[in-house]
Amino acid sequence: MSAVAGSETAVRRRILRYGLLLAVAGQILWSFRPAPGRALTAQEAAGRALYEANCSTCHGLQAEGSGSGPSLHGVGPAAVDFMLSTGRMPLADPAAQPIRQPPRFDPQEIAAIVAYLTAIAPGGPGIPEVDPQAGALPRGAQVFLNNCSGCHGAGAIGDSVGGGQIAPSLYASSARQIGEAVRFGPGVMPKFATADLSEQDLNSIARYVLWIRDHGDRGGLQLGRVGAVAEGFVAVVIGLGLLLVVIRLTGSKT
Ligand code: HEC
Ligand code: HEC
Repeated sequence: MSAVAGSETAVRRRILRYGLLLAVAGQILWSFRPAPGRALTAQEAAGRALYEANCSTCHGLQAEGSGSGPSLHGVGPAAVDFMLSTGRMPLADPAAQPIRQPPRFDPQEIAAIVAYLTAIAPGGPGIPEVDPQAGALPRGAQVFLNNCSGCHGAGAIGDSVGGGQIAPSLYASSARQIGEAVRFGPGVMPKFATADLSEQDLNSIARYVLWIRDHGDRGGLQLGRVGAVAEGFVAVVIGLGLLLVVIRLTGSKT
């Protein structure tokens, strides 16, 4: 009886010993498992260094977001390129509306950050190809007045949209930045998918915005700072006037 009991404890010890060995071996193997996903490209690695130094305090090391900044998962290359090329990011004060400033990074660095974020936080609208020359001015004016002028003003000189938010002047925006803003919708601006505004409509909007920027001050008209209401009123008058001119010009051509 005692012999049986003795062999039983020996078996139990052996099971324990081998079990322990197996557990340790498993642990060691587990720690040498391959890293998830593929290795970063050189460009993505450069973007990672810039991201970790300039963005991760607010957006999190894995772009998961924090109390000081939203998650960047699914935000998309258009948003990242727009925020960096307009100098809106990196933000100084997380509570303030981001504003246009000289960009902190050069185009190569921006492309690197975009590539890195695309790798770790994929999804969202890509950077659109915008070709203003392929757009039609009257169509651009019409689409702009229907979808954009309510916030940015008919003359695209900007306006307050309430809640302390400003829809800025569009005179500093490039065609690419106009396309990016339309597709991802910065801040309180709505986003417009291709089902809402086709690529051709986007070309036309860009053409119209660049056109009023270049032609809006013709004739030496200087507004001066006359206050938001008066400026808004003047913008509407100028915008409608321009629209009429555009319709006239293009109408007489065809
Ligand atoms: C001080 C905190 C802070 C830092 C640093 C910062 N951000 Fe942001 N970021 C924010 C906040 C807050 C918002 C939301 C702003 C808003 O829309 O009002 C934001 C918005 C964004 C958005 C738009 C997200 C969306 O859904 O519209 C992108 C893209 C972005 N940040 C990228 C970056 C990148 C890239 C960097 C580094 C170069 C960076 N940010 C640095 C706080 C920060
Ligand atoms: C509901 C109001 C609203 C509407 C409608 C709207 N926007 Fe905006 N837009 C904004 C606000 C607010 C911002 C600033 C976002 C921020 O950075 O916080 C903005 C920013 C932009 C910018 C960036 C300007 C810069 O600094 O370069 C562009 C370009 C733009 N809008 C174009 C458009 C176009 C084109 C349309 C129409 C298809 C449109 N917006 C419709 C509110 C609006």
